[in-house]
Amino acid sequence: MKFDTPATTNPIDRLKVVGRPTSRIDGPLKTTGTAPYAYERHDVVANQAYGYAVGSTIAKGRIASMDVKAAEAAPGVLAVVTAGNAGPLAKADRNIATLLGGPQIEHYHQAIALVVAESFEQARAAAALIRVDYTRADGAFDLERAREGVTGPSKDDPDSTLGDFAGAFAAAPIQLDATYRTPDQSHAMMEPHATIAAWRGDQLTVWTSNQMIDWATTDLAKTLGIPKEKVHVVSPFVGGGFGGKLFLRADTLLAALGARATGRPVKVALPRPLIMNNTTHRPATIQRIRIGATPDGRITAIGHESWSGNLPDGKPENAVDQTRLLYAAPNRLTGTRLAVLDLPEGNAMRAPGEAPGLMALEIAMDEMAEKLGLDPVEFRIRNDTQVDPEKPDRPFSQRQLVECLRLGAERFGWSRRSAQPARNRDGRWLVGTGVAAAFRNNLLTPSAARVRLDKHGMVAVETDMTDIGTGSYTILAQTAAEMMGVGLDKVVVRLGDSKFPVSAGSGGQWGANNSTAGVYAACVKLREAVAQKLGFNSADAVFSDGVVRSGNRSAPLAQAAGDPGLAAEDAIEYGDLGKRYQQSTFGAHFVEVGVDAATAEIRVRRMLAVCAAGRILNPLSARSQVIGAMTMGVGAALMEELAVDTRAGFFVNHDLAGYEVPVHADIPHQEVIFLDETDPISSPMKAKGVGELGLCGVGAAIANAIHNATGARVRDYPITLDKLL
Ligand code: MOS
Repeated sequence: MKFDTPATTNPIDRLKVVGRPTSRIDGPLKTTGTAPYAYERHDVVANQAYGYAVGSTIAKGRIASMDVKAAEAAPGVLAVVTAGNAGPLAKADRNIATLLGGPQIEHYHQAIALVVAESFEQARAAAALIRVDYTRADGAFDLERAREGVTGPSKDDPDSTLGDFAGAFAAAPIQLDATYRTPDQSHAMMEPHATIAAWRGDQLTVWTSNQMIDWATTDLAKTLGIPKEKVHVVSPFVGGGFGGKLFLRADTLLAALGARATGRPVKVALPRPLIMNNTTHRPATIQRIRIGATPDGRITAIGHESWSGNLPDGKPENAVDQTRLLYAAPNRLTGTRLAVLDLPEGNAMRAPGEAPGLMALEIAMDEMAEKLGLDPVEFRIRNDTQVDPEKPDRPFSQRQLVECLRLGAERFGWSRRSAQPARNRDGRWLVGTGVAAAFRNNLLTPSAARVRLDKHGMVAVETDMTDIGTGSYTILAQTAAEMMGVGLDKVVVRLGDSKFPVSAGSGGQWGANNSTAGVYAACVKLREAVAQKLGFNSADAVFSDGVVRSGNRSAPLAQAAGDPGLAAEDAIEYGDLGKRYQQSTFGAHFVEVGVDAATAEIRVRRMLAVCAAGRILNPLSARSQVIGAMTMGVGAALMEELAVDTRAGFFVNHDLAGYEVPVHADIPHQEVIFLDETDPISSPMKAKGVGELGLCGVGAAIANAIHNATGARVRDYPITLDKLL
């Protein structure tokens, strides 16, 4: 189904099932510990052996020699796989560094060997017997130093300019020129990267944990140099990904190689201490923001440049994306700069671009409001735009930023706030409030699904979509139930299998809208098949309560299926509509913090998010997404930081004891309000994403609240108490 004209009324609009706060249908599997996660799939294939990955202990250089004899001779060991004996391996397009390194080493903890043994303990013990001599090479590990002299854009990401930024900024009566820093961050998902691999002849199956089934299938085939048809990827449950499982990672490749070397199924989980340096991370940024405004608070010039590091073939973090779209201004300059570093690969982490970008931009907006003597909510409203500021003939399909700010201010009690910092005390706590705009783009990508109807009236949905804890199973079931006019108890959803039609996958908050639209498309076809089978006119057929009605005739849905059943497959594909309109999601975050007047301990006391993100398919799972994202925002503001050893070139804190994320006691009352919005430009579902929007802006709202509480302006995340003293 080609979607190239705005959506009109369709069966989803009945909202009998879609749009209802439905508990997730996979919930019982999660809460009883019976959801089949990759590493625990003892049932799928017999005789599993255990692989233990070995990581490089240098960041850059070569392996001069590697002695694996003692490891090979250790009890229970079946094989030791290295780049030297694994056979030819290609690099997949989506991988920046090689997944199995050697002799060249590109980053610290790059995998250099896999030990396969009868038990996990034997594999781990043998791994410790591998002797490696390295020839170290000098590397660049310090972003502050590496970015010196990097003043221009990277080759595939030119600066975006409009008008005369330099002239307008210089002439502006009120100016801000400030630099902000965000640290390297780790996805720190609960379930480590894990895979079981088994070969049957030349056919490979991997049970793994991956957000994007088709990317994983393509890239695994390419890396191994085998046809894609020979690779079967299964990932029905993912215990968190946050972007860390968007791409093929070492666990999957190593398990496949270990299984090939031993002729046994092999399972590999990346140990937690390996993950931070072996896999990807969100790169640190240094962001310079310049804003010029008139005394009445109109922005005349806005400039945002962001430096970040990555391996030579990597990209800079796109931290200026939102600045191209969020506020009106006739003179603009935005650009990213890549400083080449030899740290592990930088890549997507939840709301890549906007999450760190708004951490800077939305403090800058607060600082500017302060200079102008304007309320920060009012300053943002005054600079709203309903069109793409860089392309005025491109309207936003929906843009309710002002409504989010106004409603949030009212519900949060913003009018009681003191504009003067450090005026509000509650016992030993200095109390302050802060606001930030939330922004994240809405991305359209094709998504296919198959729907089957059986003689009992059961509807089965099959698509390679993943559920990374987001609620995909539930919203896809709601979509099929609405379209086919049945209850949720009549729908079965099967996900995460490369044998199913290729979906949008889970990333970039595009999963919900696109994957449900794919199921919508398949259901439209199935409805036509049903009508035809029953001899009904498909144009006026109504599907409701398990019955199909057309004119004065009606028949049970199950009757159309008959014994063989009926199946339909289709995909949603997007035309030019998405190019004619800018599609984004908007929100406003309000936060209250307390800062201990003596120790500078920071506690978040209250959080409110107001989101405008198209139709909300399931207010319960959407709310869970947003409060989870707000929690992640607290981590980003106050705790999360991969500490870089700038001499040896690695992230020092590489487990969940050293890499701090919030716990329940850190998280106060959270409230989420969704504005009533449907977006006919986004898809027939009229929905958008919220999973990343909920994170965007939170860090700055907290930073701004800390400033309001204390008068201290911290531009360097995470805001730990030492930075306030
Ligand atoms: Mo997201 S960082 O695209 O999983």
